[in-house]
Amino acid sequence: MNPNIIRVGIVGLGGIARHYHLPSYRRYKEVQVVAGADISEQAQRAAQQEYAISRVYTDYQEMLDREELDLISICTSNDMHYPVAMAAIERGIDIYCEKPLALTFSEAKEMYEAARRAGIKTGVNFSHRRTPASRLAKEILDSGALGDIHYVSALYAAGGTDYRHRPGTWRNVRERAGFGGLGDMGSHVLDMMMWWLGCGVEAVTAAMTTIVPDRLDRDSGQPMRVTTEDQGMLLLRYANSALGYLYGGYVFTGRGYDQRAEVYGSDGGLMYDQQRPYELLVHLPETYLRHYHVLRAGGTRDTPYTRILVPERHLGIIPEEPGSRRTVLMDFIDAYLESRRSGKPFQFSPGFYEGLATQEILEASRRGELARCWISLPL
Ligand SMILES: NC(=O)c1ccc[n+]([C@@H]2O[C@H](COP(=O)([O-])OP(=O)(O)OC[C@H]3O[C@@H](n4cnc5c(N)ncnc54)[C@H](O)[C@@H]3O)[C@@H](O)[C@H]2O)c1
Repeated sequence: MNPNIIRVGIVGLGGIARHYHLPSYRRYKEVQVVAGADISEQAQRAAQQEYAISRVYTDYQEMLDREELDLISICTSNDMHYPVAMAAIERGIDIYCEKPLALTFSEAKEMYEAARRAGIKTGVNFSHRRTPASRLAKEILDSGALGDIHYVSALYAAGGTDYRHRPGTWRNVRERAGFGGLGDMGSHVLDMMMWWLGCGVEAVTAAMTTIVPDRLDRDSGQPMRVTTEDQGMLLLRYANSALGYLYGGYVFTGRGYDQRAEVYGSDGGLMYDQQRPYELLVHLPETYLRHYHVLRAGGTRDTPYTRILVPERHLGIIPEEPGSRRTVLMDFIDAYLESRRSGKPFQFSPGFYEGLATQEILEASRRGELARCWISLPL
């Protein structure tokens, strides 16, 4: 085996595998995607046609046994993250896993502990950490420019014009998804807020609703019962004493993907909107503001906030491909290659540790929703 090559297998060849993982791996001459596994022949064919994967399997265990893999991407529905990860850990294979890490907190904990014991390198695809404006927000928060943080709000919602009649998928079934809108969408901003603030959550309470309880199954056309929440809303106490509000859901009628966050502290504030990925609205002390390019000055009653441009260092431009942006998976591969080259310990975040932190809040939210009370963390 060539030690300079990373041999990758992908389990689950659906949307995220084809539109995110495979294009990210393809950018590296040091990476070979040698095999893929999916229970759907259609997904196997599509991945083979688009990416010329030479060997595909129906049974992922067979792929893990037959191929000499360094790393796998886990891109299945959420119910398979745990069994696939545990099978890979047993075989000493490193893992880049889709979010949310697992169906439940106890599964996620087992995955984290087993990977740590076996020295497995892990990554979790909280992909929005690569949005340029999110990286700038992180830089500003790390600098301390906002002072003591008092308030944090974040939402991530999908909309569309015909939410009520959309066909059902595995995302609407608790045994396969764990959570619905809150886990699928909200997990991204739960992770992002902890990353920005550099601290975890001490307590949470939640409310969730399923608005459309019956749908027609996308594959079979048969009626199916929806058992996950369409939307979820959390109140949070962060470890730095800030109070937080967070929303994840599918029901923003007429909107596309909508991801926004606001943070206010004793000395300033910022507003982030994923739809405007190259700028932030800020109120910052002058000593901090002068480091940034101002697009429109604030400070007036009508426009109190200043619009600043995201500096080039956060854009993640890939020089050979103008217009494209780096992915979190590319950061993971860089860290992977660097640790191989230098022999130094692998360092990467978000890994299973961060995936577990988000899963713990989701679990606490469910307990809080069921008992109609606040739940303290750690669980
Ligand atoms: N990070 C992000 O921004 C992002 C975006 C979309 C999806 N996701 C995550 O990616 C994962 C997959 O989502 P998707 O949108 O690609 O779903 P999808 O339904 O398009 O694809 C999932 C694939 O997994 C396959 N699969 C299911 N059980 C399997 C098994 N036992 N063995 C092998 N293959 C199996 C299915 O046949 C399907 O092809 C989910 O965990 C989802 O939360 C993350």
